[in-house]
Amino acid sequence: MSTAIAINPENVKFCWQKVKQEQGVDYFVDQFYENLFGQFPETRAAFSDNMALQKSKLLTMLDNVINGIEFIDQLEDELVNLGQLHLDKNISAEMYDIFVQNITETASKAANHSLSNDELEDWQNAFRLVSDIMLRAY
Ligand code: HEM
Repeated sequence: MSTAIAINPENVKFCWQKVKQEQGVDYFVDQFYENLFGQFPETRAAFSDNMALQKSKLLTMLDNVINGIEFIDQLEDELVNLGQLHLDKNISAEMYDIFVQNITETASKAANHSLSNDELEDWQNAFRLVSDIMLRAY
């Protein structure tokens, strides 16, 4: 299926590489959930107590999605299933915007604010696209 959002895959990969080079993925994922639970404490209850496991699952998914961003349609079945899992947990479609905003702010911070607006825009659009695919389950 063709995608409506035009993304430069090199920019998305570059952002992730910068995050890894600068503050690293552990900092990134810690910040991501700290921001989410800080801004939306009510979301905490949907997660299990084992946040270490959740963090590693999210990081694996991010690696897969970012490495395969130019072939994202090949991950469609997996992403729609992931969307279904979120729907089953009563995560609303509106929460995905918050996810995208949070993951963009966190990447910027974890890369020590070295990413350009263009790079961050492609990063943000990549996760909009991922969200759109997950939301096909809704
Ligand atoms: C692009 C959007 C998102 C991606 C890529 C994503 C990724 C993931 C992944 C990989 C898992 C682990 C699934 C598994 O156990 O196999 C997960 C679980 C989960 N996600 Fe997301 N997620 C997204 C959006 C959201 C949003 C918007 C929320 C809302 C707060 C959310 C809350 C959760 C919760 C509550 C779980 C289950 C945790 C548990 O079982 O303890 N996710 N997500």
